[in-house]
Amino acid sequence: MPSPDFEALAQGGIRRLRAYDPGHDIVALRRKFPGGALVELGSNESPFGPSPRAVQAVSDCVASLHRYPDPLGSELKSALATHLQVDPARLMLGNGSHELLMMVAQVFAGPDAGVVASEFGFAVYAIAAQAAGAKFVRAPALPLGSAMPRGHDLDAIAAAVDADTQLVYLANPNNPSATWFSTAALATFLESVRSDVLVVVDEAYLEFVTSPELVSAVGLLDRFPNLIVTRTFSKAHGLAGLRVGYACAHPDLVAVLERVRESFNVGTPGLAAATASLADSVHLDSVRSANAAERDWLANQLRLRGARVGPSQTNFVLVDFERDATAIEASLVRKGIVLRPMAGYGLGNCLRITVGARGDNLQLLDALDQVLS
Ligand SMILES: Cc1ncc(COP(=O)(O)O)c(C=O)c1O
Repeated sequence: MPSPDFEALAQGGIRRLRAYDPGHDIVALRRKFPGGALVELGSNESPFGPSPRAVQAVSDCVASLHRYPDPLGSELKSALATHLQVDPARLMLGNGSHELLMMVAQVFAGPDAGVVASEFGFAVYAIAAQAAGAKFVRAPALPLGSAMPRGHDLDAIAAAVDADTQLVYLANPNNPSATWFSTAALATFLESVRSDVLVVVDEAYLEFVTSPELVSAVGLLDRFPNLIVTRTFSKAHGLAGLRVGYACAHPDLVAVLERVRESFNVGTPGLAAATASLADSVHLDSVRSANAAERDWLANQLRLRGARVGPSQTNFVLVDFERDATAIEASLVRKGIVLRPMAGYGLGNCLRITVGARGDNLQLLDALDQVLS
């Protein structure tokens, strides 16, 4: 029997879609560089690992792996509610924040809707919009200047919002540019958009922020019912492998989103580890300060080598080599150093480098010296 034309069978938005590019085949590379020899600085994971309390919580749930997880995630939601000082009804858990970013578009952006995000914004926003069949509108980023990163231009984003717009995605700080905007600027932006335009503020990297001008947008939820804040345990909490994220929004909005949530979307180990991790502020503080110190050190070392490094409030830096970085990246991979190429974002001269622990960073710099010489 001939196979049907699956492409033609897919709905229009999906036909135009290209799958998210996760970078290199990391498993194949680990096989090539066994025994932990691979230096993995391509996915913005935490080199400092999870809280020991989270590790303990995972091993404590081994005896109940035959049971389904709590479909409501009540314990984690209650811990998050206390931590964020919000009503638990404002919270929704996701299989990573990626799932929540997709669900928001699935629920609130149909085929006639417009979805606006910034140029050089996180790649998932365009995928989420297109998968929902919505029209994706890319607002220009701040112009290229001596301040290298092309950050969100909130005025341009506001100008791109039109009568069709139902959803706006902002990342603060943003991946891959590592740029950010102040909480005051966000509040001004939120005042300028219609109240029926939903605004997602993706705070995947918020725990790494050291600037006093940027605090979580969760504090703005009472003022702006159209605001949805997403956060994750994948980055500073070091739990990327467990897939736990959450959204915080108006309770009525959460209730609508809940209609499409798969009931067991976060597994038992993830729920337990995230709850335990929230209780370990000592670990999180140590990750935050170690990352900040290492971020400054690495950025300076890269600048000493002639690269342009944008400021960062995240656990990665965007590095502009001012020439096509494809060959540099390929040579580094051959030496067992994984970074993230940026050509897919139209930033072919740039590489995104996760801030590693000192040993990893030294190996990266050593390999880079060989490649650049
Ligand atoms: C800006 C941003 N948002 C969201 C995510 C998704 O993270 P997760 O699904 O692991 O929570 C990432 C992952 O890299 C990211 O960079």
